[in-house]
Amino acid sequence: MVKAVVAGASGGIGQPLSLLLKSDPNVTELALYDVVNTPGVAADLSHISSPASVTGYLPKDDGLKQALTGADIVVIPAGIPRKPGMTRDDLFKINAGIVQGLIEGIAQYAPKAYILVISNPVNSTVPIAAEVLKRANVFDPKRLFGVTTLDVVRAETFVASLSGSKNPSDTTIPVIGGHSGETIVPLFSQAKPAVNIPAEKLDALVNRVQFGGDEVVKAKDGAGSATLSMAYAGYRFAQKVIKAVKGEKGIVEPSYVYLPGVPGGDSIAKTTGVDFFSVPVELGPNGVEKVIDVVSSANDHEKKLLEAAYSGLKTNISKGVEFVNNPP
Ligand code: NAI
Repeated sequence: MVKAVVAGASGGIGQPLSLLLKSDPNVTELALYDVVNTPGVAADLSHISSPASVTGYLPKDDGLKQALTGADIVVIPAGIPRKPGMTRDDLFKINAGIVQGLIEGIAQYAPKAYILVISNPVNSTVPIAAEVLKRANVFDPKRLFGVTTLDVVRAETFVASLSGSKNPSDTTIPVIGGHSGETIVPLFSQAKPAVNIPAEKLDALVNRVQFGGDEVVKAKDGAGSATLSMAYAGYRFAQKVIKAVKGEKGIVEPSYVYLPGVPGGDSIAKTTGVDFFSVPVELGPNGVEKVIDVVSSANDHEKKLLEAAYSGLKTNISKGVEFVNNPP
């Protein structure tokens, strides 16, 4: 029995993500929460002949409590997306408060749930989530994940366009750091199977992974950012968490986690100088089983990219921590 909740379920990401979760045979209950439109989205999805029962909730009538009670996994794509010319950091003012409110609800009604944060800026919203959970004395770092899977998915896709691979997701590429611009660091030297990227194409490829989201923002021309590819990525990560919880072994995917609180994280925190960082995470029945240190084996070129990532992350992380501890 798995109860999944989507908070922000009526949005551009929320709807297709809810569709994918509804199609997952392991999900038996799907609760959709949003400030608008969830009754309609839930009614629509409820006609699909997969196991999950679907319910929609709005803030009225204790909707958040109803949605969250009994949740095993909560995925959060609530908040505003970017428009052309905006960075993810520009979203902070609005999304920080939205994430804080939802995490307060989770701390109260579903403190043991696996929490997957999609809302941007992920580099700051995950530290916000951690602080809120700490204050409520229910923080389990093994269960809090910033979803950075879209960066991994993009790296797989863009590399395949160079290598000619027929199935892009057959290549595993660790993408680490954070989830915005220069904080996103793809480690092509550690791709499995190995990929041969011509030296003159490497910088452009790294840049495309770091700023791939901008291509979508520009093409949508004011109508938002990535939604469908993000729903795919968010579901891919959620599905892995669910499979690991159900006992499947050896599942690894990068995620933005609180390093000092997860097995194997301390040494990476020392090397990077930051507490929140995306690294390949091995998942198990309790969430993060261990994190895998791919940082120390980065090559010289990647180490330079990582230096830039550390400084950006430090600023983003302290902004999130400050938001909770010294509210504006
Ligand atoms: P959207 O505007 O289409 O949908 C957001 C939904 O959140 C709306 O339905 C809105 O009503 C809802 N919402 C607002 N306040 C809420 C609250 N307090 N409680 C519950 N729901 C609430 O936006 P879209 O395109 O779905 O993006 C959502 C977020 O995901 C944005 O912050 C965006 O930047 C982020 N994102 C993250 C990515 C990642 O890789 N982690 C990739 C792409 C987008």
